[in-house]
Amino acid sequence: VAADADWAREVRRLADERGAVLLAHNYQLPEIQDIADHTGDSLALSRIAAESDAGTIVFCGVHFMAESAKILSPDKTVLIPDERAGCSLADSITAAQLREWKAQHPDAVVVSYVNTTAEVKAETDICCTSSNAVDVVDSIPADREVLFCPDQFLGAHVKRETGRENLHIWAGECHVHAGINGPELAERAAASPDADLFIHPECGCATSALYLAGEGTLPKDKVKILSTGGMLDAARETGATSVLVATEVGMLHQLRRAAPEIDFRAVNDRASCRYMKMITPAALLRCLREGADEVHVPADIAERARGSVERMIAIGK
Ligand code: 13P
Ligand code: SF4
Repeated sequence: VAADADWAREVRRLADERGAVLLAHNYQLPEIQDIADHTGDSLALSRIAAESDAGTIVFCGVHFMAESAKILSPDKTVLIPDERAGCSLADSITAAQLREWKAQHPDAVVVSYVNTTAEVKAETDICCTSSNAVDVVDSIPADREVLFCPDQFLGAHVKRETGRENLHIWAGECHVHAGINGPELAERAAASPDADLFIHPECGCATSALYLAGEGTLPKDKVKILSTGGMLDAARETGATSVLVATEVGMLHQLRRAAPEIDFRAVNDRASCRYMKMITPAALLRCLREGADEVHVPADIAERARGSVERMIAIGK
């Protein structure tokens, strides 16, 4: 299926017929981002899904994002164009593992990144995304222990920013971001000394970038640790003419749209999430025609998970 004008017309017609709002994450294919009603980072899309009055939400993103939308709006129909679009980070902790960890720290507050299954969210006190993780942890009284899961690099970033010693971090990672490493970043930065560095906190290189900035190897004012939504805001504000981007490559599309005068380059141009890319033009068309794949979350799990997701979208508003 070619993403041409006929495809675009048909997608819009079917979306109208279903009364559906189309949401696309910043890592989606450019043609999917361009046809969506809204694009954004995980937090922005959760908020839009919660506030939308459309009866059907078509979530062009990965499964946990669509699941979060369903948890927040159990009466809406939530569709994902391909339910096999998973997430290696969400797979790095199970509900049973989290229960075991909680048993070792019975008084701790559990903060889970939104990249988790509904079952894990049901065991969680507050969810967070990369754009509000620091605010979420700051909202917890300083004397309470915190269990932070599943991303170790985002956890390290939060620990650094909050200066909290009583924050325990699960050792999970996203294979795409973990693969963007420090030496590669240092090499690219040395070759473009005037460029800003936009780094997603899930990256394996985030810690070493800050270390190199502390050492003076990388210019401190140029290193920015940002969520994908934060990168778009920073792109509109920076005076830099070139920016090195350390995150999934789908992000470049929105960045180039937001600031066409800036030269954006990927630190690692192989950093592509195969799950995000399962949402193809053909898959979106099929989804709208057939009303599939529909996302279901068992009512008891959704009930227990809802509080943690609602607390997440309320913080930093
Ligand atoms: P954000 O868009 O919230 O920064 O999340 C990045 C991500 O990896 C989602 O899968
Ligand atoms: Fe999950 Fe990583 Fe893909 Fe994001 S980029 S959906 S964290 S596997």
